[in-house]
Amino acid sequence: MDKFHIIGGQRLEGCVSISGAKNSALPCMAAGLLTPGTITLHNIPYVRDIITQRRLLEDLGATVLTPELRTHKISAPQIEVFEAPYELVKTMRASVLALGPLLARFGKAKVSLPGGCAIGTRPIDLHLAGFEQLGAEVKLESGNVVARAPETGRLRGASIEFEKVTVTGTENLMMAATLASGTTVLKNAACEPEIDDLASLLNKMGARVRGAGTPIIEIEGVKELGSAEHTIIPDRIETSTFIVAAAITNGELEIRDCQPAHLTSVVEKLREAGVEIFELNQSTLLARGSAKLRARDVTTEPYPRFPTDMQAQYMALMTQAEGRSAIAETVFENRFMHASEMQRMGGRIHIDGRNAVVEGPTRLTGAPVQASDLRASASLVLAGLVAEGETVIDRVYHIDRGYEKIETKLRSVGAQIERVRQSVTAPLPSPQILANAD
Ligand code: UD1
Repeated sequence: MDKFHIIGGQRLEGCVSISGAKNSALPCMAAGLLTPGTITLHNIPYVRDIITQRRLLEDLGATVLTPELRTHKISAPQIEVFEAPYELVKTMRASVLALGPLLARFGKAKVSLPGGCAIGTRPIDLHLAGFEQLGAEVKLESGNVVARAPETGRLRGASIEFEKVTVTGTENLMMAATLASGTTVLKNAACEPEIDDLASLLNKMGARVRGAGTPIIEIEGVKELGSAEHTIIPDRIETSTFIVAAAITNGELEIRDCQPAHLTSVVEKLREAGVEIFELNQSTLLARGSAKLRARDVTTEPYPRFPTDMQAQYMALMTQAEGRSAIAETVFENRFMHASEMQRMGGRIHIDGRNAVVEGPTRLTGAPVQASDLRASASLVLAGLVAEGETVIDRVYHIDRGYEKIETKLRSVGAQIERVRQSVTAPLPSPQILANAD
């Protein structure tokens, strides 16, 4: 288990380039199971979750070639195994995205239930109810979901209204419906840019998906999907994290290869808080910190509102802002585990259920802290960048799941951050801690 050692207090300045969105790459890779053809995906980020997803596809019998570091060519003419085992699902919940494509193309799938996770119980009941509405028989057997298409072997189009907005649920159902007979309408669908990105890949493969990126998605089923080539959108959470890195260090970063159009609510909130953000062109932002950051309240909600995946990083920023800010987490229960680590660094944060109040500004001081999930780790890195002295962040495997070479990128703009490799005899993290989320 590696650690990050950070010496805070450096002003960040320079250019950083944003990687492809992990949360888009994961479902797009799963879409490779929908066709006997080959899908070629560019701009795949080099992060741990992608390696896990690749392993899952290969275990199922697909071939994944990487002619270049960020290009994956996925071919699944045949599948030998129809199962995503616990060992993989527990390390990456997005493995459940194999369910929709397997069920749609082969009429059967078995996926281990994700179980408890570090940011609250995260059921997949809405995915399963949706598959049932498409005519599948879904059973729970020994901790696994076992799903079968109707006897015809093909799912049937249906009108499905999600009780609650679910990102991977929308993706799973959207993929399943592409090969169903008839038309499927998904209502109260998630509107995240990653859904739209997946839909454009599916359409290039020959699917008929309309309305992705809005709450109503219509999918006209087709008999077969073919090969396609697609470039993954930039990671909006990584982009937003670097904006906060500029802001929290009172620095100035030119952030390249991003998609400003996907950041509206984050940019709006950060500007209110006193961060200067300029759109230099369609793929470049300039973010500049200010010595006088203002406390501003925020509530996390599904896209296009403020993302839960930026809540922890925003909390780090608010420890440096003048005044009291209230942060409400409405998407996940139990997603404030970074708060207690920030408190140890001197942050004045009070938690009450899904609400947090941050009093600022506080002078953070470096301390040994533990990362609990992907975005929590990013927030601790941000806190470490501004803290006085040395911060040592343990369990950085969480950050490696979703941020490509964050320490290299930060160092290139002036941060003092080092990865220190731990001895291989260190005890393995418990599944409960590994089994987290985004
Ligand atoms: C995705 C993202 C994650 C992000 C989250 C919310 C990926 C790989 N991960 O996770 O980074 O934090 O969206 O933006 O894209 N729920 C149910 N039943 C279900 C499904 C979800 O109750 O069947 C609940 C969840 O517990 C949660 C809420 O719905 O409270 C939203 O979850 P969901 O949008 O499904 O999150 P993920 O798709 O897992």
